[in-house]
Amino acid sequence: KETKLWGGRFEEGVTDAVERFSESISFDKGLYKQDIMGSRAHAAMLAHQGLMSDSDRDCILQGLDKIEKSIEAGEFVWRTDREDVHMNIEAALIDMIGEPAKRLHTARSRNDQVITDLRLWCRDAVENILGRIKYLQVALVALANKNEGLIVPGYTHLQRAQPVLLQHLLLSYVEQLERDAGRLVDCRDRLNFCPLGACALAGTGLPIDRFMTASALGFNAPMRNSIDAVSDRDFVLEFLSANSITAVHLSRLGEEWVLWASEEFGFLTPSDSVSTGSSIMPQKKNPDPMELVRGKSARVIGDLVTVLTLCKGLPQAYNRDLQEDKEPLFDSVKTVMGMLEVSAEFAQNVTFNRERIQKALPAGHLDATTLADYLVKKASWFFPAGIPFRTSHDIVGRSVALCVSKNCQLGDLTLDELRSINPVFEEDVYEFLGVENSVKKFCSYGSTGSKCVAEQLGFWIEKLGME
Ligand code: ARG
Repeated sequence: KETKLWGGRFEEGVTDAVERFSESISFDKGLYKQDIMGSRAHAAMLAHQGLMSDSDRDCILQGLDKIEKSIEAGEFVWRTDREDVHMNIEAALIDMIGEPAKRLHTARSRNDQVITDLRLWCRDAVENILGRIKYLQVALVALANKNEGLIVPGYTHLQRAQPVLLQHLLLSYVEQLERDAGRLVDCRDRLNFCPLGACALAGTGLPIDRFMTASALGFNAPMRNSIDAVSDRDFVLEFLSANSITAVHLSRLGEEWVLWASEEFGFLTPSDSVSTGSSIMPQKKNPDPMELVRGKSARVIGDLVTVLTLCKGLPQAYNRDLQEDKEPLFDSVKTVMGMLEVSAEFAQNVTFNRERIQKALPAGHLDATTLADYLVKKASWFFPAGIPFRTSHDIVGRSVALCVSKNCQLGDLTLDELRSINPVFEEDVYEFLGVENSVKKFCSYGSTGSKCVAEQLGFWIEKLGME
């Protein structure tokens, strides 16, 4: 067995079980790019500050290039006895170029190294997720665009509520995704500060230039407090929180579409390319991808809870527990990326069944609230300023009760029947009944009225550059 890089004060090596238990190389090798990037910036800074010769720096930079290439070619041998990505790369560099490499860890600790790597990694990951969010937004807007004028029942409590344009409903998800993206951008702004040079926790007595490394790595500035720099994982928590909220949004979309794909609803049909069958029931065609979008939100939430729990009992500065932040972080990002991608593909491969939806619309008195608004505007001898909403609510409620007893729709009631409930009804009431008429009456900002929805759609088409 080789001596550890930290082996000087030890007389014997760790047991195999401890080695297996403590390693992180099996998952943190995913940070190799960021680790090498950080080492390049660090070596350049050390040479600039006279802490290393230019020729040692050049040897290190060449060696790091070779190591990066060999990792990317799949030729690099990751060793568990070298614990983690940082020591694997440093030890391999020493094997490769010898003495100069032993100067690389000057004024650096794995504590500031790992957190620098992680911040760089998160910065890229945020960018990737932002790209996928936009991809899904485009898919949803395109789907809305394809379904102009289609009215669907709007639900509250999963009971028929009011008629809405399908476009309106689809765009509601686009809005949510926009805020999801905003949270990620906020998170990236806050995480983009450089811990490198904080060393173990206290900084260093050597004349390093932390501003130089921070700027070389594209950070806004070095972190002000070296203890804070190696202690906190709040940016991981923020990222995992943002991902959890995105995942919950996607889970709700999944639930809605799974429901709508059921025989009972029958509002949408996914194409074969986004459906799967049953191993026993030959007739089955299941919307599995969206069920899994719903299901996988659980692990994204779990990842957040894992890291919250991980951090809550830690004293300040680095503790080895923090090694456990990586797997949940990687898992959350990978899972959300997949959820976004598959949701977009589902949106690209789904058809709304106009006929089924049309048939479903008359049930549930979706026009009742529009009727109540009609009465509010109706001036009469008894109510010169229109009927108070509570009163009109009651009048319509009694009209609905009449429909229920007669098993018909509001629009089927004769004017005499309506007038028997309240004489205020006039012939023009029929312009407010039926889902089509009802939708036409919506005019408030953000409402389901066709003009309002067309404006929303235009806004997104332009914002997403879809023209
Ligand atoms: N593999 C460790 C991690 O992921 C790197 C830092 C280890 N530092 C230490 N002093 N043991 O957190």
